[in-house]
Amino acid sequence: MIEPSIVRTQNALRGQVWEWRGYGETIAFVPTMGALHAGHLSLVNLAKKKADRVIVSIFVNPTQFAPGEDFENYPRAEKEDVAKLASVGCDLVYVPRKGSMYRAHHATHIKVGGVAENLETDHRPTFFDGVALVVTKLLNRAAPDIAIFGEKDYQQLATIRRLVDDLDMPIKIIGAPIARDEYGLALSSRNQYFDEDGLFKARQMNKIMYSCAARLSGGADIANGTTAAEKALIDAGYSDIDYVSVACAESLEIAKSGTIEKPMRLLIAAHCEGVRLIDNCAVNPA
Ligand code: PAF
Repeated sequence: MIEPSIVRTQNALRGQVWEWRGYGETIAFVPTMGALHAGHLSLVNLAKKKADRVIVSIFVNPTQFAPGEDFENYPRAEKEDVAKLASVGCDLVYVPRKGSMYRAHHATHIKVGGVAENLETDHRPTFFDGVALVVTKLLNRAAPDIAIFGEKDYQQLATIRRLVDDLDMPIKIIGAPIARDEYGLALSSRNQYFDEDGLFKARQMNKIMYSCAARLSGGADIANGTTAAEKALIDAGYSDIDYVSVACAESLEIAKSGTIEKPMRLLIAAHCEGVRLIDNCAVNPA
């Protein structure tokens, strides 16, 4: 097993990228906030299939956390993360030095419209501004050929696709399928906050989601199907439902009623034992 190099400055990152480019090698980039799990490693495995070299960044981005969210307590485990990345053959880990991402005079903001509106933004109004800013900076620094993001954050993936296209970045964005545990729970760094009871409840979300998707694909009315799923989540012990929504798989335009006539996405965000969980799946016409 070869240990990946760790770089902490833009210059060191760029230097390595230029060297690889000089050999004609292609580069895939996987941005993360660390606390890596099998889901992240599946992104790295996909990246390895798509390019000669794989860079993973680890940066807990303060601008995507609202006051009162878990920025301070967000799990940080650099040593363990690097060991996991070594096990899947990552070439380089970029861990920007504290204070080097947003310097004292930083005054630029990025707002993505369209796909970034509604859903998450109704509940975390500044989340995608923070994601768009850090992803732009990271992509500028790493200048990869491709970048990989998980479909678990489906709206984030759509937002990044929009951003990269709108800002003419010559980078191919690839979405990776959601990695799940053996009970179907979408893997997330925040799953480690759960005790046994919380984990049991958390694992109900995907069952409720798939059963709702099956009803909708079978011709059920969207309003009836999503209302039934919300009730099922409450019955399963969820305290707050942020949304159970059906949206166009591409534009993320929300459909409140009617039946499924084209590829759509069922998206859920709800709170379980104080942890906010999100999940989503395809809903296609029968
Ligand atoms: O999905 C994440 O982990 C983060 O939002 C990202 C894309 C690394 C930006 O901080």
